[in-house]
Amino acid sequence: MPKHELILLKNMMEPGYTGSLHDYERAGGYQALRKVVGKVPPAGVTGMVMKSGLRGRGGAGFPTGLKWNFLPKDYIGPKYLCCNADESEPGTFKDRQLIERDPHQILEGILLACYAIGSETAYIYIRGEFVLGAKILEQAIAEARTAGYIGSNILGAGITVNVWVHRGAGAYICGEETALLESLEGKRGLPRFKPPFPATNGLYNKPTVVNNIETLANLPHIVVRGPEWFASIGSPPKSTGTRVFCVSGHVKQPGNYEVPMGVTFRELIYEHAGGMRSDKSLKAFIPGGASAPFLTPNHLDVKLDFESVAAAGSMLGSGGVTVMEEGTDIVWAALRLMEFFYHESCGKCSPCREGSSWLVQTMRRIVAKRGRMEDLETLVDLCKNIEGRTVCAFGEAEVAPIMSTLKHWRSEYVTLIQEAEAANLIKLEPAVRH
Ligand SMILES: Cc1cc2nc3c(=O)[nH]c(=O)nc-3n(C[C@H](O)[C@H](O)[C@H](O)COP(=O)(O)O)c2cc1C
Repeated sequence: MPKHELILLKNMMEPGYTGSLHDYERAGGYQALRKVVGKVPPAGVTGMVMKSGLRGRGGAGFPTGLKWNFLPKDYIGPKYLCCNADESEPGTFKDRQLIERDPHQILEGILLACYAIGSETAYIYIRGEFVLGAKILEQAIAEARTAGYIGSNILGAGITVNVWVHRGAGAYICGEETALLESLEGKRGLPRFKPPFPATNGLYNKPTVVNNIETLANLPHIVVRGPEWFASIGSPPKSTGTRVFCVSGHVKQPGNYEVPMGVTFRELIYEHAGGMRSDKSLKAFIPGGASAPFLTPNHLDVKLDFESVAAAGSMLGSGGVTVMEEGTDIVWAALRLMEFFYHESCGKCSPCREGSSWLVQTMRRIVAKRGRMEDLETLVDLCKNIEGRTVCAFGEAEVAPIMSTLKHWRSEYVTLIQEAEAANLIKLEPAVRH
């Protein structure tokens, strides 16, 4: 029995629930769509979402209703909804579960969003490796089309929405909203300069909303149970609702846990995820995916809401919580993440393209015990020359593991370098004697 009421994971926890249209309808599915289509004006649905306080679950935490409101009101022509199912952030695996186990919950959210913003076309951009998820979504779309929820004249209300699945090729950068749009247009996934923002110049240069899968899955519940109900969950007024946190690493029960925002990391790690796997003490955790700065055991009582995690010097990000036990080589862990960012840098901005290469080389040298004390200054200098100097937030992401581990575990870097220097002295000794 979960400690907190489940919203997004509720259906799939029911024994025998398959995620079929039949099961979803039996659980109350598509009631939200029936409640609003042709009955509540689109602006009314946007109003509900604004009132609920829902903020994006993709990483940046932008208020969802506000984002929809940025679309030009008097625009005549196509508008698009792009559903971000790229799930590219390391340590994050919630969208995948939501897609595979309850696809209609997402589709209903997509239909509500399209209705609210006046879009007749939605694209689900899904990570190429999620072969099963793409297949399940295709099946669910076909079921919903047959039932009259997708297509033309939805529920006899004269509304048209078509939903298409687009499989990406597995690039981290394609999770970034403008690179996603480029990729959808058939181009190489590179981020665009902002402004202009997708709200005015998005897919095919048309007004576009990009929303994360989990963000969209919340919509049917907000409509059926009311925005006031949603706004009362979590840490109102700025962090409302629940979030599905992906707990991985050195815990007894890794997995996805849905909790109201505002519970502490201690509760998430020690109660929901069963605590440390070998009863060693906690050394570090990443609170919101690989691009979030590492935190320490001193942060265990920080609340899992946008403001509290930011105040602790990190971010809630994608909701991927990676736990590391005592004994973990923290410099090596930062290097592992840096290797990922180096591999995934799209190459558009030189600070990121060149800087990631220098960062990874310097980190490799330190871990291989060939580092020099001045490497620590070089790392900081490189990070400062990347941060804030790139087209997208990839730059901030890639420096986070290094800057935060240098802040909290500098002594581990120093020890590795001192060992390197000692080994070099021993090697040099015969030459010095001559
Ligand atoms: C490098 C990078 C990767 C990203 N990857 C994802 C991703 O995989 N999924 C996602 O939903 N958002 C991702 N984002 C955030 C998106 O750009 C965007 O903010 C989000 O999809 C908006 O949806 P939301 O408002 O519902 O959160 C990424 C951002 C950056 C900078």
